[in-house]
Amino acid sequence: MKRLLLPILVLSATLPAGAAVNFRTQVWPILAKSCVDCHRAPHKDSAGKIVEPKGRLRLDGASLIMKGGSEGDAVVSGDPDKSSVYQRILLPPDHEDVMPPKDKGKLLTFDESELLKQWIIEGANFGDWKGAEDASASATAKKAPTKAADPMSSGAGPAPAAALEAVRKLGARVSTVVTDSPLVRVEWVSGASAVTDKEVAALIPIGGNITELDLSDTKITDEALATIAKFPRLVWLNLNNTAVTDAGVAHLKSLTNLSYLNLHSTNVSDTALTSLTPLRKLRQVYLWKTRVTDGAATKFAKSIPDLRVTME
Ligand code: HEC
Repeated sequence: MKRLLLPILVLSATLPAGAAVNFRTQVWPILAKSCVDCHRAPHKDSAGKIVEPKGRLRLDGASLIMKGGSEGDAVVSGDPDKSSVYQRILLPPDHEDVMPPKDKGKLLTFDESELLKQWIIEGANFGDWKGAEDASASATAKKAPTKAADPMSSGAGPAPAAALEAVRKLGARVSTVVTDSPLVRVEWVSGASAVTDKEVAALIPIGGNITELDLSDTKITDEALATIAKFPRLVWLNLNNTAVTDAGVAHLKSLTNLSYLNLHSTNVSDTALTSLTPLRKLRQVYLWKTRVTDGAATKFAKSIPDLRVTME
């Protein structure tokens, strides 16, 4: 796992400076050569027996790669640490989970694994490559390009233009998070102190598109959190220096995709942490200048795998 320190140098040897990794020409050949034999559509072997894709993971199509296998996500756009395709190839050669499995094929070279990692960091974009589709799910396969750009965007249509315009008129900056994805980040770059629960309510028409929301230094109250609780794709939420309390945070338990939550300089206490414990995807929570006690913070940090709680 610690082979990660040289990538910049190595990448500059393999990639023209500034160029994004191209899935079709750079990543797909690696998967095709080293992985797809075992991770493709069910097929008959020479004895006529049906061979299922190993680990129920197919790596021969964009939508299939993003669908993942029996253990869940294989590629998490932007996050190689959570992408099992990358983690598995980094394991030591004799590890029981290494891919390709021990004695079943050559390990990827350092350059190859770096390319795969860089492609994930850049958003796991397949460009115009689609590859195979899951025949049993041809209805959902149509959505493959958006889904491929970001697994979170699955099921999200583009935000209605009129609604976006209305939100921008309220002084918000709305930007896309990943190219070709309907998901957006909303923030108030200036004039945050004039933002109230009313402005947050105005986000409802684009609520299904918001994946990052910065409400730091605004005048919102717990009521705004009841509104936000209905934004199912929210992953990143900054409430730093607002008047939210434990009662408001209790609304957030519906946000099962939430990964980052900043509660720095708010009035929350240990009670808030109880409401957050069901959010298993939380990875980073900021609790500096709150009423949360060290003991409760430590217990909370241990209650969710890989969660980092920052108290200062
Ligand atoms: C010789 C066959 C074979 C090859 C080649 C192979 N795998 Fe696998 N793979 C397996 C088997 C068997 C499993 C299921 C057992 C396990 O989870 O370790 C698996 C499981 C996985 C999983 C976990 C899937 C899940 O959700 O359970 C990932 C990720 C994976 N492989 C990635 C890769 C990648 C990336 C490559 C190419 C670098 C690759 N594999 C090449 C046989 C193979």
